[in-house]
Amino acid sequence: MLIRKEDFPKVALSKMNEIHSTEIDIVNSLYDAVVRCIEGKESVETVDKLLREFLNDVREHFSFEQELMEKYGFFAYPMHKGEHDNVLRELASVESIWEEKKNPATIKEYLENYFAPWIVNHVQTMDTVTAMFLSNFVHAE
Ligand SMILES: [Fe+2]
Ligand SMILES: [Fe+2]
Repeated sequence: MLIRKEDFPKVALSKMNEIHSTEIDIVNSLYDAVVRCIEGKESVETVDKLLREFLNDVREHFSFEQELMEKYGFFAYPMHKGEHDNVLRELASVESIWEEKKNPATIKEYLENYFAPWIVNHVQTMDTVTAMFLSNFVHAE
């Protein structure tokens, strides 16, 4: 397990919390498969499949937030989107290194040292402020 759900910050919009919760499940499954793969107990194909699932989920997660921010004119939209874009760029490079080398240690290192601390910090700061702002408009979501 990479991220403990109990320790993960909650924001003021329940739909965002749901998306985060699903993402934690997906990234934890990927991480566990990567660790097993390093030990020779999991196939590269499984890691491949879970990595793709994770990348799609992250893209949908970021798009969801960005659409709401645009729709309701969130003041720090460019800054929030900028953080998303940085991570999408990192993920694209992790993906291409993986495609080339199929070395699970690369994914493990990225998830532990970059993605996990980033997502906790991002949700605690950017997402928290964004959700607070959006909750003035999006009561049902
Ligand atoms: Fe988020
Ligand atoms: Fe975000």
